[in-house]
Amino acid sequence: MLDSAEECGDILLFKMLNKKIYFLNKPEYIKHVLHTNHKNYHKSPGYKPLRLVGGMGIFTSDGELWLKQRKLYQPAFSHQSIKNYSGIVINNTNELLNEWKVAIEKGDKINLSEYMMRITMGIISETMFSKRVEYQTGMWEAMNYVLEWIGDRALRNPFVLPAKWPTKKNKRFWESTALLNEIIYKVIDDKKKDNSNPDDLLSRFMNPEGDLEGLSPKELRDEVMTIFVAGHETTANVLMWTFHVLTQHPEIEEKLHEEVKKLGDRELNYEDLHHLLYTAQVCNEVMRLYPPVWHLGRMNLEADKIGDYEIPPGSHVRMSPLTTHRHPNYWENPEVFNPDRFEKEQYDRQKPFSFIPFGGGPRLCAGRNFAMMEMVLMLAKIVQKVKLAPNQKSEVEMAPLMTLRPKQDVILQFELR
Ligand code: HEM
Repeated sequence: MLDSAEECGDILLFKMLNKKIYFLNKPEYIKHVLHTNHKNYHKSPGYKPLRLVGGMGIFTSDGELWLKQRKLYQPAFSHQSIKNYSGIVINNTNELLNEWKVAIEKGDKINLSEYMMRITMGIISETMFSKRVEYQTGMWEAMNYVLEWIGDRALRNPFVLPAKWPTKKNKRFWESTALLNEIIYKVIDDKKKDNSNPDDLLSRFMNPEGDLEGLSPKELRDEVMTIFVAGHETTANVLMWTFHVLTQHPEIEEKLHEEVKKLGDRELNYEDLHHLLYTAQVCNEVMRLYPPVWHLGRMNLEADKIGDYEIPPGSHVRMSPLTTHRHPNYWENPEVFNPDRFEKEQYDRQKPFSFIPFGGGPRLCAGRNFAMMEMVLMLAKIVQKVKLAPNQKSEVEMAPLMTLRPKQDVILQFELR
């Protein structure tokens, strides 16, 4: 995608059998699809493989069903709710740092990939379902395999055998999904037995306010699975990439530390987010270069015109935060890691829809404020307590699976501050 964006410019057409796939690489065009004329665009069939796992959860649904789901989600992401979740983020990060302390004192390296997936999974389940789900035997492999299998079908290989055919890969996919289902149904059953927190997302799904209808058991499963997948790997990836980048930029790690040091040696809290602006800039710059959701897809219901191009109905329209975020027309020295781009005055001059890590328009990520709170507090807390050992090389490549992960585990040596 990066190569074709560079060679072909703002819009390009791939033809695959009888499919027409338009790839947009200009912020104005992306705005047109995601925002201005969004009613004409549904989630593309490219998201279909996701439905094998997330069913008709909010990520892949459209129309009336999507609207109902979005209304159910809204209160769980209010300002007050996010403030309440911040305590859970702090506690989980403290536990993580306690484990790291023991490892660092023993001279062990830290596998950020594993730790970040574990902690973000713990946080998403504790905040949304009031029950912390630990990575248990087989879960890590099952989640990885499911995401890899979907990524392959949805994004990389258009010629795949039907999912129900008993190939080795398909069988492993269904076994992995069964294991994840077991975990999800247990979360739901436990909630039915003990609903001590009626304000969390799962309670709202079961007993919504006003005249909204509750979800059926199948819809409930789909939504819980969606949140599991959408709500933990994305933030985990940003944190993995952050430490990879910091190995190349000790001066930025130092600046992060300077910022958090100004708050003293006390415990951080939600209000501190107002003072952790540089930390937020670093997270944004990481998402610019390594956007976890690197690919967005839509399909137009009726014929449309994008720029000078006629788009026949039923076309696949694809957009990539990865290419837009590295486009030299919109970003100066796009390959250079520079968090100052997100300093308010500079960022205000940035073209709308040239930075779209959370998508845009009505389908904008529902969890974006939650994700920012989580990433900024975690990063600040980690930097407050530990630092990277000097002169380390972290050589990882991008793996564009369902999300944009580091291909190799990010494993680094830390020191206590
Ligand atoms: C750095 C972290 C995250 C990134 C980069 C991210 C990115 C995105 C993007 C790009 C979309 C739109 C996809 C599209 O238009 O096709 C999206 C949707 C969504 N995200 Fe996130 N996300 C993140 C974290 C989260 C978290 C933590 C949650 C939940 C707590 C969450 C929940 C959702 C939901 C529910 C949707 C569907 C919204 C809708 O269709 O109305 N996300 N996310």
